[in-house]
Amino acid sequence: MRTFPLARPARIAVFASGRGSNLESLLAAFGPDNRLGQVVLVVSNRSEAGALKRAAAGGVAAYHIPFGVDRERFEGRARDLLAAENIDLICLAGFMRVLSAEFVCDYAGRLLNIHPSLLPHFPGLAAPAQALAAGVEASGCTVHFVDDGVDTGPIVLQVEVPVKADDTVETLSARILTEEHRAYPEAVRRVLSGQENAAIEALRQVRA
Ligand code: GRF
Repeated sequence: MRTFPLARPARIAVFASGRGSNLESLLAAFGPDNRLGQVVLVVSNRSEAGALKRAAAGGVAAYHIPFGVDRERFEGRARDLLAAENIDLICLAGFMRVLSAEFVCDYAGRLLNIHPSLLPHFPGLAAPAQALAAGVEASGCTVHFVDDGVDTGPIVLQVEVPVKADDTVETLSARILTEEHRAYPEAVRRVLSGQENAAIEALRQVRA
């Protein structure tokens, strides 16, 4: 198993289900000239995802794999692509499906996610709406390693934003998203440069 940094640019895959603005920030940060890592593969479970169009525009291999009710089939095809592309790190960026414990375990320490709250607060769906309903004064985003829970793995980076009295789900989500676009590339940079190796080792030991 590989630990970072590698002696070559790490090969990064991004899984995304929607518009793909986080993918865009990762593509901008980890392009073909980056010696730490490069986004070389994009996978989406939705054929109409903006993420697939952004990947194609950026000249990156992009695949639609239906998820539907058949998680095994999705994961089997995804594993084939990850192996064929020699992927070192997977970034979930608005990927709206839960991966199996087996998949998560096999990619322990090589699988990141971004979530629009300050975890462990407000995991799961509609995190900005949850934050507004709870009446908190601050929220934000979290980049974390994925373990077999939902939004529970070791945290790499969090960025806080204020929640304003007149915020709606839209205004709060937009404020958080602006920070997501900075946080995800920075978190990936930390992981690829070896600053998170202790967390990676701990995740691998759980797996072993
Ligand atoms: C982001 O808010 C991310 O935190 C959440 O889903 C959203 C995806 O947005 N998991 P985008 O597709 O990257 O624009």
